Amino acid sequence: MDKRPIGVFDSGLGGLSTVRAMKKLLPCEDIVYFGDTGRVPYGTRSNETVETYAAQDIKFLQAFECKMIVAACGTVSTAAANVLAGTKEPSTGIAKPSAKAAVSATKNKIIGVMGTSATVNSKAFDNEIHALDNGARVVSVSCPLLVSLVESNWISIDDEVTNAAVKRYIEPILDAGADTIILGCTHFPILAPIIQKIAGENVTLIDSGLEEARYVKEVLESRNLSNSDNHRGEQKYFVSDKTQNFCDVAEVLLGEDISEKCEFVDIFKVI
Ligand code: DGL
Repeated sequence: MDKRPIGVFDSGLGGLSTVRAMKKLLPCEDIVYFGDTGRVPYGTRSNETVETYAAQDIKFLQAFECKMIVAACGTVSTAAANVLAGTKEPSTGIAKPSAKAAVSATKNKIIGVMGTSATVNSKAFDNEIHALDNGARVVSVSCPLLVSLVESNWISIDDEVTNAAVKRYIEPILDAGADTIILGCTHFPILAPIIQKIAGENVTLIDSGLEEARYVKEVLESRNLSNSDNHRGEQKYFVSDKTQNFCDVAEVLLGEDISEKCEFVDIFKVI
């Protein structure tokens, strides 16, 4: 039994899609979440900048003596994978678990990947998928606007602007005939109802947050790091800009008002 919390971070609120799944799959675990809302987006920046931000985010979480570090951010998972791999605690990103789920889901071996520019340029998803199935075809599109739309809370299934943006972004994936799409940025599972509506029922969406949470569960169990079954997991959220918008979207996503559990942190003073 290990009572230490799990540290989860993202550039903003996208990582809440991982938290949502972790709360269901790992109800006894405490979570400390950091959303770097003061510096979002990460996905349009250079790998060097993403690496620096990721190292600082991890350092912030390490002060809580976390038993595992979870990059609930596609951009960090792919463009700063080396930083993540260098942590002293067990760590994970979204790329490996999502690629594995996509390879088992696809029937026609055509897999779409929606990610940020940094993620698509890194080719990390292509590499992970091809390591599992060299014959799979990968069609990747970078969808930077979708991150801002989610951060702005334009997430309703009827939102005309978000629907139009999704339609335009996924056209090349649908034209290629993909039967499976990886939501390769953790902001995108939040838009899953819109993406599914546009892609159609025959396309399987891979929720990167859910796949990552499943992997975290596997790691905790295999390393004997799980918390006691009697403990009710608690969450604490930190953001590097005002808390209001973060709490508003969190309420839609997690179905709870987290304003009492959410605090502003001046990341530059901490690191
Ligand atoms: N959630 C981040 C990701 O998964 C958001 C991207 C960004 O900050 O640009 O890539």
